[in-house]
Amino acid sequence: MPAQANPWRSVAVHRIGVYTEHGLSPGLVEEFMKAVREVGCRNIVDPFVGSGVVAVEAQKRCLPFLGIDADPWSLILVAAKTRPLDYNALLDWTLERFGSLEELEPLVPSPRLEQYHTPMVLAALGRLRRLIEEAAQEWRPLLLAVLGRVAAEYSLLRRSPAPRLRRRRVEAAPHAIYRDFVDTLRRAIGDLRGHKFCGPVDLVWGDSTAWLPGRVCGVLTSPPFANNLDYVRHTMLELLWAGLARGSRDLGWLRSIQVPACEAAARAWKLETRHPWLQSLAARIGGSRAHGYRRFLLQYFHAMDKHFELLAERLEWQAWYTVGDSFLGGAYIPVHEALARLAREHGLGAETRLLGERFRPGRRLYLLILHASG
Ligand SMILES: C[S@@+](CC[C@H](N)C(=O)[O-])C[C@H]1O[C@@H](n2cnc3c(N)ncnc32)[C@H](O)[C@@H]1O
Repeated sequence: MPAQANPWRSVAVHRIGVYTEHGLSPGLVEEFMKAVREVGCRNIVDPFVGSGVVAVEAQKRCLPFLGIDADPWSLILVAAKTRPLDYNALLDWTLERFGSLEELEPLVPSPRLEQYHTPMVLAALGRLRRLIEEAAQEWRPLLLAVLGRVAAEYSLLRRSPAPRLRRRRVEAAPHAIYRDFVDTLRRAIGDLRGHKFCGPVDLVWGDSTAWLPGRVCGVLTSPPFANNLDYVRHTMLELLWAGLARGSRDLGWLRSIQVPACEAAARAWKLETRHPWLQSLAARIGGSRAHGYRRFLLQYFHAMDKHFELLAERLEWQAWYTVGDSFLGGAYIPVHEALARLAREHGLGAETRLLGERFRPGRRLYLLILHASG
């Protein structure tokens, strides 16, 4: 079985911005959508919508969709991909304003951004950000998504594995950055012109362990995997440029509403699962980071347990989760099996299926299918 990178990285519309590998392959998405059509499901929910693979694919198949995410950047990105716009008007306006871009006062929404860009790059990005502030409201998600990409390109911040700065200076003349912005915008618009904006896409900023809509027919999602990946850090630059976070305090607060799937999102005040079988699983974790790993793992399972409790009350048909297993401090954590057992305890039917090898060697991806009770 070949290891899977994110296959959507090169697919039109999706490539406007994709998150890391998550197991939602085109084949699996098609299989789900086919099953949804067969049962006549009319509302599809992705409670961890991320960069919106399911949103875009449901929309082009004319299926009503609701996406939820605790990270507000995700909602900007999904809105950028799923809201039709007057692209000619947007491009004309942007190109016309470009003539006087150098005269604009840079808008840098957070002082923290000074750490991540050289002064010249910061000023150029700040002028683009000022331009976006002047744009029509409905254009902003797409313009911010484009700015986010360009900012990441010229940033000193390395995305993974830890929040470190690049050694090399990422320097560029303002005109090169402006050109990149327009090229990226044109490419995104080219993709969006070919997209079928058929089904309605509703988006909710929320915590899916505390809220789900009243009725859920079908779920297709890739939840956080308990693998120490910090989604807030991965979208930190974009959150700061969008003005959705001003600094560490806001970023920390956004982490606190994430499913604690990494050390950074674990909190002393968060509840841990009390299931003895999960506590003994966590007790197997060793090494110098055992304490932090155990804590987030037990909090992770508590949060997913709450999510399943809500789901069990609302699910009308099936919920499909792609789930990756983990190794933490030398211990193998079969996240998929543990989630299946938690779901069963809420009266849901649960089966798992091996999907393939993960992008990271030695790890595997599974599909967890939950069935409505009764
Ligand atoms: C694996 S990613 C989803 C990737 C997505 N399928 C895509 O197409 O990019 C997991 C997502 O769950 C979100 N998340 C984490 N905790 C959450 C919570 N409590 N409620 C809602 N979303 C949450 C993260 O912000 C992240 O966007």
